Amino acid sequence: MPAQRLGILTAGGDCAGLNAVIRGIVCAAAQRNVEVIGFAEGYEGLLNSASARVLGTSDTRGIASEGGTIIGSTNKGRFQLRHGPAGEFVLPDSLIRATRQTLDQTRTAALIVMGGDGSLRTGLQLSRAGVRVVGVPKTIDNDLESTDVTFGFDTAVSRVADAIDNLRTTAESHRRVLVLEVMGRHTGWLALHGGVAGGADAVLLPEVPFDGDLLARFVKDAERRVQRSLIVVVAEGARAKSGRQIRKQTSSGDSRLGGIGGYVESLIATRTGRETRVCTLGHLQRGGAPTAFDRVLGQQFGVRSVELCTDGMFGRMVSYRFGSVTDVALTDAVNRRRAVLPDTQILRHARSLGIFLGD
Ligand code: F6P
Repeated sequence: MPAQRLGILTAGGDCAGLNAVIRGIVCAAAQRNVEVIGFAEGYEGLLNSASARVLGTSDTRGIASEGGTIIGSTNKGRFQLRHGPAGEFVLPDSLIRATRQTLDQTRTAALIVMGGDGSLRTGLQLSRAGVRVVGVPKTIDNDLESTDVTFGFDTAVSRVADAIDNLRTTAESHRRVLVLEVMGRHTGWLALHGGVAGGADAVLLPEVPFDGDLLARFVKDAERRVQRSLIVVVAEGARAKSGRQIRKQTSSGDSRLGGIGGYVESLIATRTGRETRVCTLGHLQRGGAPTAFDRVLGQQFGVRSVELCTDGMFGRMVSYRFGSVTDVALTDAVNRRRAVLPDTQILRHARSLGIFLGD
């Protein structure tokens, strides 16, 4: 009979490496005679204990190389935090009570939450209410403070680099400008790393509002240098100096970032006369097999999260600092977006490589 049972859930948008973390958790727990129960569809699973299932090592054999999450996720639902009267984040008491009840009913001692900033913020509220929580930082946006890297980012960067490689052949054949819109929400980590990896000519990111005149001049100068093609990577959260971020309405009534690629395409085409096309990479960045780096990091994060639980170190988030897996207080990790700053090394190096950054 296992000495203890740990609950796990994957919350928010999926990304490559979630299954690697799950495998890391299940294997490390088994070594310690601890049982793992997976709650389905993110936090929503805490309201539906019937959907929870015990995960053994045989359930996770071979999954470290698979994208997605075997226990499902959602970036919607009742656990999304609301604002209280003073603008603070609140989680309704009814949800905290329901969580406790589910954990009691399923004899679950603690909860490992894999999520990005929003999901970890919910984890922090549960932790403050006395639930034993450990966080694992996940997001292709790589925008969390207190960790040098989140899992899923490396895979997404590879997807961007592959897309650039594939677009370049068409751009070269047709003497075109190809604009690639990538994800990343309000930060430009993915655009910048992907752009450098793929050898983009220009990268436009949220942290550096771009000047349309300079962008048009950059494209014309390239033409004068008889450069056959140009690849411009634009982060979904980027904006022109004179404009705002571009959002689109979804059928469910949400508003999401998206559409800046089309804006940049028409700006370049109308201001320079160059034949220009746009490609929006979308969820190809989140899906598919994780890179070897994300498989290793994910499993290591999983192991560390179990160690934290068995050592009774709750209210912590697993983190990666200076090449090692470590942990930090959840409260220090969430609500602090890590942005690309003017002195960020990769930004400076991109400039040194001659990549146009819009300013
Ligand atoms: O946070 C991850 C992310 O992929 C962002 O880069 C993007 O803006 C968003 O999620 C897309 O969310 P959805 O899958 O709900 O469209």
